[in-house]
Amino acid sequence: MDKIVIHGGERLTGEVQISGAKNAALPLIISSLLTEGWNTFHNIPDLMDIRTAKRLLAGLGVKCEGRETLRINAGEITNCEASYDLVKTMRASILVLGPLVARMGKARVSLPGGCAIGARPVNLHLKALHALGAEIDLKDGYVEAWAGRLKGATIYFDISTVTGTENIMMAAVLAEGITILENAAREPEVVNLADVLNLMGAHVTGAGTDVITIEGVERLHPAEATVIPDRIETGTYMMAAAITGGDLTLLGCNRDYLEAPITKLKETGLSISSVEGGLQVRGTKEIKSVDVKTLPYPGFPTDLQAQVMTLMTIGKGISLIRETVFENRFMHVNELLRMGADITIEGKSAIVKGVPHLQGAPVMATDLRASASLVLAGLAAEGKTEISRVYHIDRGYEHIVEKLSSLGANIKRIKE
Ligand code: EPZ
Repeated sequence: MDKIVIHGGERLTGEVQISGAKNAALPLIISSLLTEGWNTFHNIPDLMDIRTAKRLLAGLGVKCEGRETLRINAGEITNCEASYDLVKTMRASILVLGPLVARMGKARVSLPGGCAIGARPVNLHLKALHALGAEIDLKDGYVEAWAGRLKGATIYFDISTVTGTENIMMAAVLAEGITILENAAREPEVVNLADVLNLMGAHVTGAGTDVITIEGVERLHPAEATVIPDRIETGTYMMAAAITGGDLTLLGCNRDYLEAPITKLKETGLSISSVEGGLQVRGTKEIKSVDVKTLPYPGFPTDLQAQVMTLMTIGKGISLIRETVFENRFMHVNELLRMGADITIEGKSAIVKGVPHLQGAPVMATDLRASASLVLAGLAAEGKTEISRVYHIDRGYEHIVEKLSSLGANIKRIKE
C-alpha cells in the first residue's frame, strides 16, 4: 500500500482548480440506468469511487466511455445485481437499487455494511422503496426488491438522508402518480441530480428544500450535464490555507454551497473573498479557536469535521466540536494525538485545546475525510509525517499530492 510523506512548515500559495464533486458525480452516473441511449456528463473527477461506479455499471451491461467527459449508455441492462465485492468498496452502490427497480422491475444489491464512521444502515431507503410498492426481501446479505410499475406515495424520512433522498427520487421519476418526499436532504448534490433528472424528462420540483415533489412519467431520455464543484474539496483547501498561513485562489468553486464553513472559518481569522473564477483565501498568523457543530445541509458539513478539528489543534484557545450526523466519526483523533494534539472526546463531542504546534509522526488513515485531516496536520506539523493506507484519500481527492505540491507543499507519494 502507498504512503504519503509530508515535511511540514511550508506556507501554501498559488491557484488550485477544484474538481467535480464525488458525491454529485456518483448519483448522476447511476441515474443513467433510467434511460436508453447516450448520456454525457462533464467535469467528472478522476477518483477511485468513479472507477468503481463505472465497474459497477459495466457489470449491469451498461456501456461507459471516457473519463473527465463520461458517456454512458444503459440501453441494454443485462444484469440487475450489484455484488458484495463492489458494494463493500463503495457504499454509494446502494444507489442502483431505486433506478433498477424503477426501470427493470427488480434488483439484487448487496447490503453495504458499516464503515469506519458508523453503522450506515439503509433502512430508510428500503422503507421508502416499499412505500412506492416494491416487495423487499433481505437474504444472504443482499437486498432483493421487485415491483410492477411503482406507485407514487408520500414518504417522510425519519432522518434526513442524502443517498436515501437520491435513491427514492430516482425510483419515483418513473412511478405512476405523484411522490412527495418530506424531510428530504437539501444538499447541492441532491439538487444537481434533480436538475439532471428533469433534463432527462422527469418532473421533479422542490429539490434543495426539505419537500421534494415528483410527478412520475412513462420513460426518460438521455441528457447532457455538468457535475457541480466539490464543496468538501473546496473546504479542505480553505483549511490548507488557514493551517499554513497561506494565500490560495480556489478556482471553479461555488461559494453558495459553503456558507456555513465560510462563516465558521472567517471566525477563526481566515480571510475569504470572491474573485474572478472562485475564492481567494488568506490565512493569518494566529488561528482563533471556535466551536463547531455538524448538521445536515445547509449546516456545517460532517465531511469537513475532521479537517476543522485539525485546524483547531493549533488554535489559540479551546474548541468544542460536536458530531451530530454519524456515531463514530472521531477516528482521526487518535492519530492527531500521536502528532501532539490535545483532544478529549466526551460522547459525540471533542474538546480541542490548541497547542503551539504539531509534531510530524507516522499515522494511519481510517476513512476518506480523516485522511484529509491528517494531510492538513502534516502540512502544519514540524518534521516528517508519514500517512499509511492512503487508498482512503484516493477515493475522494483528485490528484491531491500533485495539487498540494504545486502550491508549495513538501509532499510526495511513496510506493510501499
Ligand atoms: C452521504 O452519505 C455522503 N455520501 C457522505 O459522504 C456524507 O457524509 C453524508 O451523506 C452526510 O452528509 C454520498 O453522498 C455518496 P446519510 P449517506 O444517509 O447518504 C443515517 C464522504 O466522505 N441513516 O445522509 O450515506 C446515517 O447512519 C461521504 O464523501 C439511517 O439511519 O449519509 C447517518 O447517521 C462519507 N438510515 C445519517 O442518517 C438510512 O437508511 C445521515 O446519513 C440512511 C441514513
